[in-house]
Amino acid sequence: MLTKEYIKDLKSNGNGAIGHLVKDYKDSASLTFILENLGQLPKDFDGSFLPELLTHKNASVRLWAVKTFGKLDNEEYLATLKKTALTDIDTTVRREAVSSIGRMRTKKGQEILFNILEDKDPKIISQAIRGLLVFKGEKAVDEKLKALVNHENEMVRTVIYKEYFAEVKDKNAQPHTESFDYLKNVIVNGDNIETMKLLKDESIHLTFTSPPYYNARDYSIYPSYKHYLEFLADVFKEVHRITKEGRFLIVNTSPIIIPRISRSHSSKRYPIPFDIHPYLMEMGWEFIDDIVWLKPEASVKNRIGGFMQHRKPLGYKPNSVTEYLMVYRKSTEKLLDWNIREYDWNTILESKVADGYETTNVWKIDPCFDKVHSAVFPVELCKRVIQYYSYKGDLVFDPFGGSGTMGKTAKKLGRHFLLTEKDETYFEYMQSKKSKDMFDTFETKFLTLDNFKETIK
Ligand SMILES: C[S@@+](CC[C@H](N)C(=O)[O-])C[C@H]1O[C@@H](n2cnc3c(N)ncnc32)[C@H](O)[C@@H]1O
Repeated sequence: MLTKEYIKDLKSNGNGAIGHLVKDYKDSASLTFILENLGQLPKDFDGSFLPELLTHKNASVRLWAVKTFGKLDNEEYLATLKKTALTDIDTTVRREAVSSIGRMRTKKGQEILFNILEDKDPKIISQAIRGLLVFKGEKAVDEKLKALVNHENEMVRTVIYKEYFAEVKDKNAQPHTESFDYLKNVIVNGDNIETMKLLKDESIHLTFTSPPYYNARDYSIYPSYKHYLEFLADVFKEVHRITKEGRFLIVNTSPIIIPRISRSHSSKRYPIPFDIHPYLMEMGWEFIDDIVWLKPEASVKNRIGGFMQHRKPLGYKPNSVTEYLMVYRKSTEKLLDWNIREYDWNTILESKVADGYETTNVWKIDPCFDKVHSAVFPVELCKRVIQYYSYKGDLVFDPFGGSGTMGKTAKKLGRHFLLTEKDETYFEYMQSKKSKDMFDTFETKFLTLDNFKETIK
């Protein structure tokens, strides 16, 4: 009977025994079992039975045959492995062949891996890169790999960037967990881009914001949708610059509707979150999640009324009960673990998210209405974002401050905040709340742009 012990005995029972055994078993399961259980192989192991297995119809048999070749560490097999790497119909088998070539760490193998860099499949290319990185520092290898920084595939580009081009951090830069005192608990009455231009690179830990809804509300008027998107792109480019490495941006938007000008025209819908997304990706934000904010149907504008009467297809207009919270991370080759490890143990313990947190990407939260500002965040929305995406003591930013819900909530949760709001009415509104338990627990600085410039000199 075919057992692990039997295979082990045969392996050390003189050369060729496994080759004979393989001939006795034709079915895929037995062949896989034999190859899988070969373990370490003696230097002089006779692998002459392996090439035939590389043409076996079962991909698992071929995969294990390739793995076995890899263990033989014998340059003679390179040509066979190369053929499998370039021609097998199964990607996993091809990858394993490339990996086996890499593990041999030979000059001849290097040449083959150079060839494989031309492959169409990014997974195969990445495997070849891994094999070649063993020789990092060798001129020929570095030249070939560096050229891939402009490769069409983003994963390939990222690996090469990290290996050869990522900037070495200035050792005297501000520690990741810290932020400047002059930015803590500050509300600037000014344009967000102008204000951000005054900030140093990597100043803030988190941004949560809800930009104006194009021309749907009267606090903002843009000459065209294109202008509006370009304005948002400029804002988020600056946010990107001032965001610390690997930290998050969460943008709350939804498609909006601009009402028709008369009955002979139709209203127009603008898919804001989907249109901003490509800009954000282009400027170096990595897409992480789409969270859907779900509101009760009774709280939103009724669009379905007409359809309810006529029930005619094409005239269906569902009530929009959702908004998006698009979650992005400032692109970095560093893993999230790196960000987390920057914090001391106490901060991590104190910032741990308590039971009852949301487990899905659909957040059911009632909207909030305010007598002065027409589009305020519900506190619960801010609470979740701040707790899930920042640590205590962090500096969180809202470039479109509005009535200041984000700042107020941040402070309650032991974070610092920075807000910008260009409209004087809303700025004064925030100031008026100072006495009403909103910003009074710790000192909040209300500054004009000029005053702010003074404080950061
Ligand atoms: C959707 S509201 C944000 C409301 C806020 N999330 C809240 O909870 O109150 C957008 C705000 O951005 C402000 N705003 C628009 N353009 C701005 C700019 N260039 N700089 C600073 N604030 C701006 C508007 O005046 C408005 O108050």
